[in-house]
Amino acid sequence: MTAAPGTGLLGFDHLEFYVSDAQLAAYFYRTAFGFEPLMYAGPETGVPDRLSILVGVGSVRLLLTSAVHHESPVARVVAKHGDGVKRVAFRVTDVDAAFRHAVAGGAEVLEPPHVDIVGAHAVKSATVRAFGHIEHSFVSREQGDIGAFPSAIALAPKPPLGDDCDIFAIDHLAVCLPPDGLQPQVDWYNRVLGLEVVSEQNLRTETTGMNSKAIAGAHFAVKFALQEPAPGKRKGQIEEFIELFRGPGVQHAGYLTSNIVATARRLRSYGVSFLPVPDWYYESLHERVGDPGIPLEVLRDLRILVARDETGLLYQSFTKPIHSVPTYFSEVIERRGSTGFGADNVKALFGAIEREQTRREPGP
Ligand code: FE2
Repeated sequence: MTAAPGTGLLGFDHLEFYVSDAQLAAYFYRTAFGFEPLMYAGPETGVPDRLSILVGVGSVRLLLTSAVHHESPVARVVAKHGDGVKRVAFRVTDVDAAFRHAVAGGAEVLEPPHVDIVGAHAVKSATVRAFGHIEHSFVSREQGDIGAFPSAIALAPKPPLGDDCDIFAIDHLAVCLPPDGLQPQVDWYNRVLGLEVVSEQNLRTETTGMNSKAIAGAHFAVKFALQEPAPGKRKGQIEEFIELFRGPGVQHAGYLTSNIVATARRLRSYGVSFLPVPDWYYESLHERVGDPGIPLEVLRDLRILVARDETGLLYQSFTKPIHSVPTYFSEVIERRGSTGFGADNVKALFGAIEREQTRREPGP
């Protein structure tokens, strides 16, 4: 990891999800995505109100947290917002410097820098409000303690399940913002984290629309796709997210895989549902991207999307919403040179999500 100037930003450290049941979520992430349970914290380790399980694959770390009683603040968050991302933590070279930079940029302080001793490691962190009830933490770690978090104990390794999922890193996060929320949040990320706009896209269907900007920093190790609804005749998918999640939030995480075909097959074989992609997408694929690099029938069977830009190819596949309140979903992405976000695919996806949204709406 190379730090971005000024902020010392190195990359994503972990995502914390607040969920209804961390044990079930950990089981899901292990079975479906191949994440290994690594650490545990709860009443037995001195955390009275919550239970957290850290799961990981490659450099991806997800902290899955649920309440152990109804008075827990975690229970209130889940009751209001449903299951979803609560915290996006970044690895930084110097927590104090990153925190000072963030506060000077206007970030609201939630937790000033402090050190937690976790086993043999000292983990330094600080937390600011990002948007809505979502938080950003800055974390600095000693080498080798990628999974350490306060009050946690290591879990015994489980036997491997078989097929490898080949997920190795978080590529990007997509965020849903309220109407007119895009530019203020772009400016906030620029001041607070030094992230800069790398691309933008405005989409319209006959009835809905969205505006989005991709921002990046730390030499592309941190990337966000920020999205706001554009005025339309009916409620679009960004508005639906905001309504169901009761505020802005992380709509999806894109996980980098070294082998999208193996990953998509594994996820499907363990019951993960993917967004349908219309057949026309594959009929006209050659015209749009030339040689797609993977046999067309394999792409079509697994509903993998392909994009080509001046730097190369990328492949993406999007799951349907993972939780019962249909807000958050996952993306798997393989990059063969491309550093883009698959603008054409976002367009195709936008239509596909809209059809799914329509299917959920009560009939006449
Ligand atoms: Fe994405």
